[in-house]
Amino acid sequence: MQRHYPHHADIKLATTIEELRHIAKRRTPYFVYEYLEGGAEDELTLQRNREAFLGYCFVPRTLIDTATRHTQRPVLGIDAGFPVAIAPTGSNGMLWRNGDVCLARAAAKANIPFCLSTLSNASPHDIAQTGARLWMQLYLFKNPAITTDILARALDANAEALIVTTDAQVFGAREWNARVFRKPGQLTLKAQLDALRYPRWLWNVLRPGLPDFVNVAAFLPSYARSARHGVSVIPTLLAPKIDWDDIARLRERWPRKLIIKGILCAADARRAITLGADGIVLTNHGGRQLDSCVSPMDVLAEVVQAAQNRLTILIDSGFRRGSDIAKALALGADGVLIGRPTLYGLAAGGEAGASQALTILRSELERVLGQLGCRQIADLTPDLLRRATQSL
Ligand code: FNR
Repeated sequence: MQRHYPHHADIKLATTIEELRHIAKRRTPYFVYEYLEGGAEDELTLQRNREAFLGYCFVPRTLIDTATRHTQRPVLGIDAGFPVAIAPTGSNGMLWRNGDVCLARAAAKANIPFCLSTLSNASPHDIAQTGARLWMQLYLFKNPAITTDILARALDANAEALIVTTDAQVFGAREWNARVFRKPGQLTLKAQLDALRYPRWLWNVLRPGLPDFVNVAAFLPSYARSARHGVSVIPTLLAPKIDWDDIARLRERWPRKLIIKGILCAADARRAITLGADGIVLTNHGGRQLDSCVSPMDVLAEVVQAAQNRLTILIDSGFRRGSDIAKALALGADGVLIGRPTLYGLAAGGEAGASQALTILRSELERVLGQLGCRQIADLTPDLLRRATQSL
């Protein structure tokens, strides 16, 4: 059905993530919006990430008193407002000035963890000052000194967990990216002219100067420190080879929770257990890496079975509704990472927009709990789901 989205300026009136997405699109130049929204190649994975939720329908229980239901649930052993964390995303400062700090503040307000990307525009220390629960995401670079430095700074900022991303060493073909840049670091004339139509974005993001990749800046040639050239230079600096030995070494060096982000099959989950990982993130990187890839929802049930409660199982990619989160939790996930939904909120209205995205997701989840006959997250069990035999 064709929906008509209101043109209101007050993001607090947005009632769905889809509405925030529309506002974000209206408020950002298309080269920035493409960066936030796009997937790899034909975007079949991106599409699959949404379709996978259609494969499950709810089977509610009725006549259960759910008036006092709540969404609180520990995530990595610490109580959270709901079992969600903000996923690591790079270049958040291109969506809103101090984007990482805005997201972290929204996470703190919702009492959920915030995961800082290696390619963020704020340091672990900046995030610690917001009072948010900090998780640190790690990309492995050719230069091992970068890893050493990031681990030291994450420990110093009291990061609870290290999230090692393993699915992006071979960088995805984000073809839209190539189309908006004439050459590395230089937008096409069309993209530059388009940016001029967004004075609010220019004032908010560009006036203070392009944000730097602060966690790796000291290791980059000076021209590549900012978002302008960094986006094309950084992928060439990632380690071309990573393997399970890298995880074993990180396990020896990192004393807190270690999570592997990039797993999509039971065999790899079992390997993670043998190497002493505390958890995994089932993900296809939000459809930005391998195209024509399974959705993490397609493999969740088999990974939960293989892990036998010996791993924390987090999942992301395509979650846009509280009902999506409920489906993953019912199948046995311990928590859900949210990528684009909070970024839509951020691009639409900074910290208030990111908070609005979290408020929408949490209240949708709470409503679904009640409609299913559940008083708490632990009541979400697989028998509340039926495999849908045909698309809705
Ligand atoms: C990402 N993602 C990501 N992952 C990561 O480990 N390090 C990173 O720096 C980034 N950067 C990044 C930027 C942008 C703009 C997006 C949209 C995504 C992937 C991210 O952590 C997460 O896996 C996906 O975003 C989840 O999918 P949804 O929620 O966006 O559909």
